[in-house]
Amino acid sequence: MTVLEDSPFVRACRGRSVPHTPVWFMRQAGRSLPEYRKIREGVGMLESCRRPDLVTEITLQPVRRHGVDAAILFSDIVVPIAAAGVDLDIVAGTGPVVAEPIRAEADLERLRPLAAGDVDFVSESVKLLVAELGSTPLIGFAGAPFTLASYLIEGGPSRTYLKTKAMMYGAPELWNALLGRLAEITSTFLRVQVDAGVSAVQLFDSWAGALSEADYRRYVMPHSAAVLRSLLDAGVPRIHFGVNTTVLLEAMGEAGADVVGVDWRTPLDDATRRIGPDRAVQGNLDPAMLFAGWETVERETRRVLAQGKAAPGHVFNLGHGVMPETDPEILTRLVALVHEVSGT
Ligand code: CP3
Repeated sequence: MTVLEDSPFVRACRGRSVPHTPVWFMRQAGRSLPEYRKIREGVGMLESCRRPDLVTEITLQPVRRHGVDAAILFSDIVVPIAAAGVDLDIVAGTGPVVAEPIRAEADLERLRPLAAGDVDFVSESVKLLVAELGSTPLIGFAGAPFTLASYLIEGGPSRTYLKTKAMMYGAPELWNALLGRLAEITSTFLRVQVDAGVSAVQLFDSWAGALSEADYRRYVMPHSAAVLRSLLDAGVPRIHFGVNTTVLLEAMGEAGADVVGVDWRTPLDDATRRIGPDRAVQGNLDPAMLFAGWETVERETRRVLAQGKAAPGHVFNLGHGVMPETDPEILTRLVALVHEVSGT
């Protein structure tokens, strides 16, 4: 096992004492960095995810620049479903676009099981990164079945999830067959990353907040729980994250997370009351706060750190991904501030 148990990041995930609160940022590898925009010139998003040399360089960029406590593999949630046969692209400024959406039972054929060999480029990238990163842990990740299904059914990003919900409520057998397939693909994809050496995994159910708690528990949680359960013997902390999930936090913890990611809407002490005292939390500064001036950033960071003390472990992060327009200097200063304020 290559899990970096003594790193502040893994220790916080496990609710152990830490020398300082660890910090990393969702979407830290990406368009807020000029060095990222440069290396991506003329290279499509999916192509860049499939090239271990680029994946390694882009993943390392924010670690070098900001001194964050963890790296996150540069990839995208649709990478495994593309590797499983779905014709899709990631369109700049839009997101994933699926050529032929999945709407009926016959369409399920287009989503075959994922074999570890379909994503050799991912294991190769992880191995290269683990060697380069030394004592900094690498986080692997995957999209959760609901969030992946929303792209496959809608054909692209959606505000209302109309077609997704229509299938979920109206054709539950087809829904469960689709989410079952996605759960298996996701489990395989995360296992590949664990076997190659990641120290933690994050399951992104970014759009689960579109559901009520009852519907989440009925239609979605069993599939996410199957994914998280499949990693129980992997020995890595499992982070479970979604946006707009105030009413889902308890269920997302129950689904089998060691760490629950919280967006900026729910204060971390309130989140801990909902989730229960046995799970660490990750979050949750509003990414828009980074545009409000340093005094505000500092005040709000101190608040988040204070509220995070209610949980057995706290990994500092934003409440969602870094926005492309963010000044990278602010992120560097923020890492130093978190370390300074929380340091013993
Ligand atoms: O966090 C990181 O730094 C690691 C890399 C990462 C990316 N996508 C790179 C990316 C991660 C963890 C993701 C996950 C992801 N992808 C999620 C879950 C996280 C979340 O934001 O809630 C989702 C929903 C997606 C789907 C997706 N891919 C969207 C909505 C977009 C944005 C579209 C756009 O261009 O505005 C993408 C594209 C994407 N994924 C980019 C990056 C760096 C931008 C593409 C580019 O640089 O050309």
